[in-house]
Amino acid sequence: MSHIRGRFHKSVDKMVTEYTASIPFDWRLYRYDIAGSIAHARMLAKQGIVSQEEAETITNGLAVIRQEIEQGQFQFKTELEDIHMNIEARLLEKVGEVGGKLHTARSRNDQVALDLRLFAKEAISDTLIKLREFQQALISLAEANKSVVMPGYTHLQPAQPVLLAHHILAYFEMFQRDVARFSDCFKRADVMPSGSGAIAGVAYHIDREFLAHELSFSEISQNSIDAVSDRDFVVEYEAAASLCMMHLSRLAEEIILWSSAEFDFIEIDEAYATGSSIMPQKKNPDVAELVRGKTGRVYGKLMALLTTMKGLPLSYNRDMQEDKEGFFDTIDTLLSTLEVFAGMVETLKVKAENTGQAVKRGYILATDLADYLVRKGEAFRTAHDIVARLVSYAMEKVKSFSELSLTEYKDYSPLFEEDVYSITIESSIADRDIIGGTAPRQVEQALATAKEIIGDSKSGK
Ligand code: ARG
Repeated sequence: MSHIRGRFHKSVDKMVTEYTASIPFDWRLYRYDIAGSIAHARMLAKQGIVSQEEAETITNGLAVIRQEIEQGQFQFKTELEDIHMNIEARLLEKVGEVGGKLHTARSRNDQVALDLRLFAKEAISDTLIKLREFQQALISLAEANKSVVMPGYTHLQPAQPVLLAHHILAYFEMFQRDVARFSDCFKRADVMPSGSGAIAGVAYHIDREFLAHELSFSEISQNSIDAVSDRDFVVEYEAAASLCMMHLSRLAEEIILWSSAEFDFIEIDEAYATGSSIMPQKKNPDVAELVRGKTGRVYGKLMALLTTMKGLPLSYNRDMQEDKEGFFDTIDTLLSTLEVFAGMVETLKVKAENTGQAVKRGYILATDLADYLVRKGEAFRTAHDIVARLVSYAMEKVKSFSELSLTEYKDYSPLFEEDVYSITIESSIADRDIIGGTAPRQVEQALATAKEIIGDSKSGK
């Protein structure tokens, strides 16, 4: 751009222009750049650094430019490098030399920091809304299947019977922590960096508090060098997004497993499944697979930015321009994932008969038998051993626990009585009646709490 090429005798090599330009991606910051510039112009007028009239000319010009961009009439130019200079050049075209006063008491270094923070705050708010909607989908699924039982797994081996709602609400808890992480990240993004200038602060009597207020920031940055160097808030978003995707990928994996012929626990709605081009019988869980797959891409962006920032000397370095594409991609990926996946979860049909059959396989009540002996006075370790041998015997005889006779039981421990037959899937679940357990009463309570949390967040509490 001519006005910043003053000291050079040559123009930039064409390849260099393309290599260094950020406009192909940072055009997305235009709304925040314009909002920041409008607040800046008002502040300059309030402080008597430019006249009221000049500020009005500038802010009116900026408002028209925003419209041009929104209506697709704006011509972004690579030779103008980035969004900041594209907008400024257009302003000069529109309002003439007075437009050049806008860049008083600021630098692109604090400008880009400001834009990115404004952008991040909005992205975090959008993320929180989508997360809440996802949690709502989990609640609906749990609620619609309140009394469905299924095998709970450890090592992907049937472990103990649980309520399906309990399993689903485990995810609610994970996403609740994600909500907390994003909310926390918001606090760090919510710091206004303008006034830091290029690095040392600006040599004008500006009003930073006024700017913060105009742009709805809670705080202003306390060190100009830090303010133009810091991208922690982007790293934090990407880290929180990585964890959130990790949670999503685990649910995705379960949906993939559960919809397989081998498990057959659920039916994915046709709107969320695809067919195969050569195998007509297939119904593939592509959405869930892509949720699982896109997790890798989100982790990648986090690692990329951490690597970009590592060892960078203070303060601003052009390396930092690399923060944006990964950030944008992470936001787009997470938001679309949450949205599509919520729809998929909400429309899942649970095959309660199949989960009910599966829970009966695999001596899943073994722990309950051991607990039974403990209640009759046996030490837990001994009880565990007795039941282990009983399982081995039953397997040999190809009998389930309920098919064993009392005499067969008694061969393993005299403590077994007729009431051993009252141990059922239902009793096993009902017995786990402690906070955080799978007993229906507890799950009902957890569901009520979850609904309260979502209700509160809707009413803005
Ligand atoms: N496009 C640049 C970025 O994204 C804007 C800041 C440029 N600052 C500079 N001193 N070259 O980081």
